[in-house]
This record gives sequence, structure tokens and C-alpha cells, in this order.
Amino acid sequence: MLPKWFDQWNKDNPTNIFGPAIIFGVLGTVIFFVALLVVAGQPFATASTQTGPRGTGMSIPEFVSRIEAGDPTIDDYVTFDPLVPEGGEPLAKDIYENVQVLGDLTEDNFNRLMNAMTVWVSPDEGCAYCHGDVELEEYGNDDLYTKVVSRRMIEMTQYINEEWGDHVNANGEVGVNCSTCHRGQNVPSNIWFDNSPVTANTAGWSSNQNRASSTSSATSLPSDALQKLLVDGEQIVVHDLESRVAGSPADEGFRSIQDTERTYALMNYFANSLGVNCNFCHNSRAFYAPEEHTPQWGTASLGIFMVQEINNEFLIPLKDTYPEHRLGAKNGDAPKAACATCHKGYSKPYQGLNVIADWPELAGSEPPVYEE
Ligand code: HEC
Ligand code: HEC
Ligand code: HEC
Ligand code: HEC
Repeated sequence: MLPKWFDQWNKDNPTNIFGPAIIFGVLGTVIFFVALLVVAGQPFATASTQTGPRGTGMSIPEFVSRIEAGDPTIDDYVTFDPLVPEGGEPLAKDIYENVQVLGDLTEDNFNRLMNAMTVWVSPDEGCAYCHGDVELEEYGNDDLYTKVVSRRMIEMTQYINEEWGDHVNANGEVGVNCSTCHRGQNVPSNIWFDNSPVTANTAGWSSNQNRASSTSSATSLPSDALQKLLVDGEQIVVHDLESRVAGSPADEGFRSIQDTERTYALMNYFANSLGVNCNFCHNSRAFYAPEEHTPQWGTASLGIFMVQEINNEFLIPLKDTYPEHRLGAKNGDAPKAACATCHKGYSKPYQGLNVIADWPELAGSEPPVYEE
């Protein structure tokens, strides 16, 4: 390949090139990465939000890259400005055949909301997802379960905004609409089913733990925490100075070690749902001490009652409306919501984006009032 004189010259002048190559190679690599660090910055840099008094370690550290990236779903959020009526327009209840909830909307705003619901819940399937492949004149029929469910979803959304403002508007006007949970999907992410018992080989208490599941945040903690604490309304508080050993879980009112584990399973779920750690709500030196909780603890407490109500008043009663394949694989129960269904890993859904400003129709059950 190489000219003959070069091969000859090489043979006559043997030189060790490995030594210098290794030195230059290592040096070059180091210089390259140092330069990259200087130019692009530290990829694992963190910043923390202080949540309590200095020196107590109360802070929420996060990767700077995650903070700067923000919630990517915000860019996909779609909304339409309200169409302020001039007065005297006929209302949906006068025009259409079977409008049970949205009757007080003007025709324009009714259609505006139908368009938005389509984008929020069934962008690929369009109006047909709830109305079927029929002529517009037949949109009044309730043939599809999706439409019947949606009507209840509208009422639920209005109810949440109207009755639970202390949670969903805790810091400012944020609110919820269909998009908060659905984000363009027919079935929202982070819904859950009762999956207990999780182990078939054991009975009683132990059959509900030691198998990682989505409802135990993939730990061996109890998998029935969401069911017992966010549906059945069992007591979450476990801390006192009594022994956890001298008693049996079967004793009435006895807070067993298992109960503490279930509380811990729920707390893991809270932290993961909001993308925070325990210090967001507690001073971890004293989880039981109300005077050391952060304001977010109060908002979270309201969230617990809100979720219990969403599940028991709205979602569980829809069980017979859904087709079988939408029900829980194990127990045939209705799909349920909890913190992550709205929060999706952020301490405020959509990072506090106001999703109710344009939608007085969904802000409450009263006839909507539009403002310029
Ligand atoms: C996610 C479900 C859903 C989607 C998608 C949807 N709708 Fe609806 N639609 C409903 C519900 C629920 C009602 C009944 C509201 C009520 O009872 O107050 C309704 C009622 C209607 C009515 C009144 C029919 C009557 O005579 O009673 C019309 C018209 C209508 N929708 C048009 C549309 C159009 C046009 C689209 C597509 C741009 C659409 N809808 C998409 C759920 C949906
Ligand atoms: C608090 C969260 C939440 C909000 C807000 C919400 N939904 Fe839902 N939605 C759910 C859950 C949970 C289900 C059950 C999932 C399933 O069907 O498997 C559901 C199911 C549905 C379904 C049935 C989908 C299917 O394919 O089975 C439709 C349609 C729907 N919602 C429409 C709406 C509309 C329209 C709004 C706004 C007016 C809305 N939802 C607001 C949580 C929510
Ligand atoms: C989003 C807020 C929030 C986060 C995050 C959170 N908690 Fe809680 N925690 C609460 C609320 C609210 C209660 C009280 C529930 C009640 O009173 O029914 C509670 C109760 C508790 C209790 C029971 C206290 C008692 O008096 O018995 C313990 C223990 C606990 N949390 C530990 C944790 C741990 C450990 C973490 C982190 C893995 C954590 N929490 C994360 C809000 C939170
Ligand atoms: C129906 C949707 C929804 C559900 C379900 C929900 N939240 Fe929220 N949550 C919100 C909204 C919207 C806000 C923003 C309120 C604001 O900033 O004004 C919020 C705010 C919060 C905050 C305050 C955050 C801050 O930075 O101050 C905490 C804490 C919280 N939620 C905890 C929970 C917990 C714990 C659960 C489950 C038990 C839960 N949430 C369930 C919608 C929801």
C-alpha cells in the first residue's frame, strides 16, 4: 500500500509510538470533556427550592435540566377564546334535542366547547368518538357510552372547579378542564384499579403486599393503599407513642405496623405524583407535627377528600356504563383517579397554567358569564 521506500525507512528507524499515543490520547480526552463542561455546562446540576426554615434540610432538589425543560405537554395544550354573546341569542337547550347539562350555552359557545372536548379527549376519532358515525341531526341520541360518560365528566369538572376551589385554585386561578386529566387521550394516563389481592399464595393482610405494583409505587409496600385511603376513606394518620407490636391488626382501632406501611405507600405515591419529596409537605424531623407542616400539606389534605369524592360520587358509579374491557382486569371495578391523574409528576398540573380562564362553562354549574 505505502511506497516501498517508506516501509524500508520504517524498518530502519524503529520507534515506540505507543507511549506518546497513550499520553496524548488521555490528555486529549480530558481536554475534550473539560471543554465540553465549560461550554455546555454540568449536565447533572441541581437547584433546590427551599420549603422550610434554613438548616432543617427542607428543600426540593431538582435537576436544572428538568426545571428548564418544563412540562412538555404545555405546548400541546389547546384552548379557544370565549365568544361573548350580544344577548338574545337562542340557547343550546332551545336548539338541540337532548342537552341536559350544557343547556344555557349559546350555540356558538356550545360548539366551541364540543370542538375543545374533541381536541382534549378524542383528537384522532373526532366528534364520532362520542356521537358515532351519524348525521348531525342524530347527535341527540345517547347510543354510545362515551357520550353518556362525557356528560358525567362535564358535571364532574364543573363540580371540582365549583366545590374544590381551595385545592384547584389554591395559589391562583388554575382550575381543571378535560385536558388536565386526558391530555389528548381517550383514557387518561395514571388512572388506577383495585388490584388486591396481589399474591395468590397468601391470605389476609399479607396477600396485599410484597409484590411490586403500580399502586405500591413499585415497592413491596401494600398495594391497596389507594383503595383503602383514597376510596374507602380509612384513617391515614398512624403516629402515636403506642407500641405497634403489642396488638393485632384484627383489633378494632389498632394502628398496626401494616397500617404505617400503607400510609408510607400512600406518601410515596403522593411524592411521585407531584414530583417532589416528603419535605414539600412535611418537616421530616416530625411527620406527625401539624405546626411544622408546610402550606402545601393543607392543600394536599383537601386533595385527599377531593379525590375520595371524585371517585365515590362520579367515577365508581359509572361502572355499569363502561364496556367490560374498560373495567379492572382483576376485580372488574371502574377506573379511578388520584393525585397523578391530574398532577402527572408536577406539583401543579400543567405547572400552574390557568386552564379555566377561557371556560366559564366548566368553571361551575351556573349559567356561564362571559367577559371580554
Ligand atoms: C368527548 C365526547 C364528545 C365529543 C368528542 C363531541 N361531543 Fe357533542 N356532545 C357530547 C355530550 C356529552 C353532549 C350532551 C351535552 C349535554 O347533555 O348537556 C353532546 C351534545 C352535542 C350536540 C347536541 C345534540 C342534540 O340534539 O341534543 C351537538 C349538536 C354536538 N354535541 C355536536 C358535536 C360536534 C359537532 C362535535 C365535534 C366537533 C362533538 N359534538 C364532539 C359529547 C361529545
Ligand atoms: C379528574 C380527571 C378527569 C377529568 C377532569 C375528566 N376526565 Fe374523562 N375520564 C377520567 C377517567 C378516570 C376516565 C375513565 C377511563 C376509562 O374510560 O377507562 C375517564 C373517561 C372518559 C371518557 C371515556 C373514554 C373511553 O374511551 O372509555 C370520556 C369520553 C371522557 N372521559 C370525557 C371527558 C370530558 C369531555 C371531560 C371534560 C368535560 C373529562 N372527561 C374530564 C378522568 C377525567
Ligand atoms: C403532597 C404533600 C405530601 C407529601 C409529598 C408527603 N406527605 Fe405525608 N402526609 C400528607 C398529608 C396531607 C398527611 C395527613 C393525612 C391525614 O391527616 O389524613 C400526611 C401524613 C403522613 C404521615 C402520618 C402522620 C401522622 O400524624 O400519623 C406520615 C408518617 C407521612 N405523611 C410521611 C410522609 C413521608 C415519609 C413522605 C415522603 C415519602 C410524605 N409523607 C410525603 C401530605 C404529604
Ligand atoms: C382534579 C385534579 C387534581 C387532583 C385529582 C389532585 N390535584 Fe392537587 N392540584 C390541582 C391543581 C389544579 C392545583 C394547582 C392549584 C394552584 O396552584 O392554584 C393543585 C395543587 C396542589 C398542591 C399545591 C402545590 C403548590 O405548589 O402549592 C398540592 C400539595 C397538591 N395539589 C396535592 C395533591 C394531592 C396530594 C392529591 C391527591 C390526594 C391531589 N393534589 C389531587 C389539581 C388536582
